Parts: sequence; C-alpha cells; structure tokens
Amino acid sequence: MTLREAVLQALKEKAGEWLSGETLSESLNVSRTTVWNQIKALLAEGYEVDSSPKKGYRLSSPPDILSPEEVCPRLTCEVFGQTNYLYYQEIDSTNTRARALASAGYPEGTVVVADMQTAGRGRRGRSWYSPSGKGIYMSVILRPILPLKEISRISLLTAVAVAESLEEELNLSARIKWPNDILIKGKKVAGILSEVVTDMDGIEYIVVGIGLNINNELQDFPSDFRTIATSAHVEDARPVSRVKVLQGLLARLESRYFDLLAGSFEGILQKGKSLSVVIGQELRLDMINGFLMGKAVDIDDNGFLLLRDQSGVVHTIISGEITILPL
Ligand code: BTN
Repeated sequence: MTLREAVLQALKEKAGEWLSGETLSESLNVSRTTVWNQIKALLAEGYEVDSSPKKGYRLSSPPDILSPEEVCPRLTCEVFGQTNYLYYQEIDSTNTRARALASAGYPEGTVVVADMQTAGRGRRGRSWYSPSGKGIYMSVILRPILPLKEISRISLLTAVAVAESLEEELNLSARIKWPNDILIKGKKVAGILSEVVTDMDGIEYIVVGIGLNINNELQDFPSDFRTIATSAHVEDARPVSRVKVLQGLLARLESRYFDLLAGSFEGILQKGKSLSVVIGQELRLDMINGFLMGKAVDIDDNGFLLLRDQSGVVHTIISGEITILPL
C-alpha cells in the first residue's frame, strides 16, 4: 500500500470524524509535513478533506470520484472493469483512449473512465460537454462475435442499460430517442457513441462510449443547451452519487450484453420499444445522404428503425438524426 493509500484508508476508517495529524504521522511513521503533502495530493484529486490546526483532518463527504479505489470494491460485474479499469482525472476523450487500447489488444470488458474530458466526442462530429466532476464519461471495449448486420443491437442494449440505470438507481423515468439519446421529460440526459472497427473476419472491436449528465446545474450548461439538456441532479433535486450510478450502469450494461451473447435479444428489444419516444411519431430523419419524412412504426429484430413515408413505403433505417415533428 502506498503512503497516499494509507492516508486515505485512515481517513475513511474515521468515517467523517477528525483524525489528528500527529496520530496519522505516528501510525504511518512519517513526518507531519509528509502527511500534509499526501493530504494536498488527495485534495488535488478531488477528495474533500477538511483540515484544522487543532483537530487534524477529516473526509468531509463520501468521495464521489470515479477512481478504481472508489468504484471497483463494490463493482458487481463479472468482467466489465474487473481486470482493466482505467481512470483518468482528465483526458481528451475516453472513446479515443479506448480505441487506442483496443487496437493495442486490450480485452473485452476494458473500461475507460474520466472525471473530465477536454475533447469529448459526440455523434456526427459534435463535441460532448464534459466538465470536471459533473458527469460520467465512460467507454467500454467489446469484442462480440456477431454478424455485422446485428451491430445496432449493441446500441439498443446500451440505451436500455442507461435508461434502466437511471430508473433503478435514481427513480428517474428515462426514455430512449432512437438510436442513441436518453431523455428525461424530453431533454437529453445521456448520449451514446458506438464506434466499430471491422476486419476481414467481421467485428474486430466496438467501443461503446456513454456520456451521462449527473450533477450539472442547468446554468452549468452552455446557454444553447439549456432548453434541450438536463442532468440527473436537475431532475432529482438532490446531489447524486456518480460512483453509485456508474457501478449500476456497468452491471446493467454487462448483464444486457451477456443476454445478447446468449442469444436472448427479445427482452432487450421489447424493453427498448417500450421506452422509445419515437415509435408512433411523425418525424424527419437526417442521414448522411439526405433526409426522409414519415412515421416511425417499429424497431426491428436488428435494432433498426422502421419508418413509413407518405407514400406508404416502409424504410429500414440503420442510423440517422431524428427530429420529432409536432402533431
Ligand atoms: C452523442 O449524444 O452525440 C453521443 C455522446 C457520447 C459522449 C461520450 S462521453 C464518453 C465517451 N467519450 C467520448 O468522447 N464520447 C463518449
């Protein structure tokens, strides 16, 4: 155990009570200056440690940092994040990092998490607003043996897992805007960016990236997002534990993914349909090569959207940007 870990453990054992600097330095057999240096390092990592010349130090609130020592002890996954949980206080993009790791051979279930992204990426070349300590920015490497045409099943199961986590961890009623947006009361609380790399044999790997707005205040968002974005905290009115949400999310994501690999996509599909905000709606769908107008009639067994246009033709849509039209 490093000195930093020993100081942190001692503070945690006191569970919010004061621990004198003298006791700490004696029990760890280091000088009080050395203890203070470790406390400064913990403060820089985001731990909230009170210090008082008379009383010593105390952890002022349960740490809500997405580091392995906070997340992994209560992570119930079998594979996801168990062998490889890579945490960054700051990174350009967890998806970019996960792609590099996947290319270097990191296995399925490798999880990359950051407390802040400087170049978080969204779909269609957009950026993902990723301020420090407010959200969950996470990517998982998957290496499924699946026919390419079933790849959209991964997007749907991810969306279902995110919505279920918000429902079950926080009692928030989240819905899915196919294919990749998670909404609460019509506002976006989370987005998914799945990136697939294929080789001659099929899928080499998929990086599933999830951005979840957790403790943002409405005024934290850039002004043009305030009418379209939300966070768990805005909807729930209480500070939310990112650690708890992340643990729940990884567990659900793994469980839904294992369902898929075991051949049971039907439950995911039904859940995805029941949470969908687009089925039954008139919409405009923007694609790389044009747009379509029509009614979303269903999601098929591959996770594709079925859109019936004005002439009655049903189109199978693999991907696109939906705008729901007012009735
Ligand atoms: C979208 O709605 O456009 C998708 C947003 C996906 C954002 C997440 S945050 C973690 C991961 N790393 C990234 O750079 N992007 C995804």
